[in-house]
Order: sequence, then structure tokens, then C-alpha cells
Amino acid sequence: MKIAIIGAGNMGGATALGLAGALPEAAITVTAKHAATLEKFSARGLQTSLDNVAAARGADLVILGVKPWFLQGVLDELRPVLPGKLVVSFAAGIPASDLAEWLSGSGVTGIYTVIPNLAIEVGESMTFIHEISGTGETLRTVQSLFDAVGQTAVVDERRLHAGMMLASCGTAFALRYVRASAEGGVELGLYPKEAIAAALQTVKGAAALLEARGTHPEAEIDRVTTPGGITIRGLNAMEDAGFTAAVIAGLKA
Ligand SMILES: NC(=O)c1ccc[n+]([C@@H]2O[C@H](COP(=O)([O-])OP(=O)(O)OC[C@H]3O[C@@H](n4cnc5c(N)ncnc54)[C@H](OP(=O)(O)O)[C@@H]3O)[C@@H](O)[C@H]2O)c1
Repeated sequence: MKIAIIGAGNMGGATALGLAGALPEAAITVTAKHAATLEKFSARGLQTSLDNVAAARGADLVILGVKPWFLQGVLDELRPVLPGKLVVSFAAGIPASDLAEWLSGSGVTGIYTVIPNLAIEVGESMTFIHEISGTGETLRTVQSLFDAVGQTAVVDERRLHAGMMLASCGTAFALRYVRASAEGGVELGLYPKEAIAAALQTVKGAAALLEARGTHPEAEIDRVTTPGGITIRGLNAMEDAGFTAAVIAGLKA
């Protein structure tokens, strides 16, 4: 498949690197506003261009990785070369109705809002997909592309927003937990590098355990909370400080 990624910033760039690693047979071209942005991608063997139209012309699927406020302008620029192509927008917060209107009469075969997270770079994204228009086949194409770099969920527009909070903003929330945990570890006597390594491996292990066993988090928590023991004391102290309420408030904010 030939893929053009228009806007190789944080998310477009991470997607380019993740897809290049997972699908070596895919032909990926990335574009950006400034030549300096593209250097690291050409160094990794990807095609690069400062010309969005040229990049999209040769592609089957066009991914829009520019900031939401540039999207309409970029779509106007690309319009002549869009017929017959699939369009994927990463723009969080742009309503499906706006995208459908901007692309109406453009001849595209499918329009999707796709929200990955930064872990797409290492093939571990949780990616939410919302179909604005398309067919069963185009949806399968988009889903299989993002399945190659993590897990996907196909959702309606309302759940797309919820998913974005959990999985996309959630990357930052999870990393803040890792940082907090490491800071506590240093206070308890670990060296900073040891504390970060321990926090990371613990989070990875907890996630792997739940995934492998298919259990509810609380069921695993029950297995490590000895009655009267230190783990339940720690959990209750965290809840006293508002842990669960803080996470939910962050997601809702
Ligand atoms: N960051 C996330 O975690 C995340 C998660 C999900 C979705 N998203 C969505 O992804 C999109 C991009 O966000 P981001 O954080 O990746 O932004 P970003 O880091 O600012 O990247 C935007 C990129 O677009 C390029 N660009 C700007 N104007 C352009 C144009 N006319 N033609 C081609 N390229 C152009 C910029 O090039 P230069 O670098 O050369 O200026 C930059 O590399 C947004 O819609 C955002 O809502 C982001």
C-alpha cells in the first residue's frame, strides 16, 4: 500500500516510524512545512517531500497529521488529487460533519477520523477509528493498517471522544503515574534510574498480567492485598489522597 502522511509532527511522525517498522512493504511518504522536520525520516529511509500534492498524488491512503486549524486549507490544496483515495484524519476535535462537508464531492472512497496514541511509534498504540463514510472493505483496510501498530477499536463519534481521553491523553496520564511512582521510590531510597526502571517494569507487568488472564484489575489487587498488610494500607492512603477521583476528574476535564 502507498501511504502519504501529510504533517510529520509528533503524531504523524510517530505513525510513519511505527508503520515503517511494522509494514516494511508499505511505501510511505511524509511531508512537513519545514525541510528540517523531514531529515530524521529520510535518515530512516522514508520518502519525504515538502510538496503535499505530489506526496498524495501517488498514494492510496492519505493520512492528515496537521494541526486541526490547518486541516481545511490542506484539504483544499489536496482536493484535485483525492479522487479514488482513502482519507484518514488525526484531527482531534474536528466534528465528522465538518470533515464530510469539506470532502463532499471530492471523489474519496472513504473518510475516517483515527485517533492513535504516541506508542504507535513502537507498535503499541491503542487506536480509535470512526467511520465518517466508506464501505466494509475500506474500513477493513484502515483497521488492518492500524492493527499492525497496536490495537484498534471502531466506535461512533461520541465514544471516539471518550476513547481519546483514555488512550491518547491517557498516555500522558499513565506516564505521570510512572513519574510519581519513581519520585516516591527515590524518597524511599532507590536511585532515580532504578526507580524509573522499577516503575516501568511494574506497569508493564501489571498490564501483561491483566491481558493474559483477562481478569478485572480488582481481582488481581485482591491477590496482593494481604489482610492487614502493607499493600492495602498503601492503596487506602492513595484513595484518601483522592487517587481514583483525581484520575476520573482528569479524564473528564
Ligand atoms: N500528539 C498527540 O498525542 C495526538 C494524538 C492523537 C491525535 N493527534 C492529532 O494529530 C494532529 C497533529 O498533532 P501533533 O501533536 O502531531 O502536531 P505537531 O507535532 O505540531 O505536527 C504537525 C506537523 O504538521 C506539519 N505541517 C504544518 N503545516 C503543514 C502543511 N501545510 N503541510 C504539511 N505539513 C504541515 C508541521 O511541520 P513542521 O514541523 O515542519 O512545522 C508538523 O510537523 C492534530 O490534529 C492532533 O489533534 C495528536
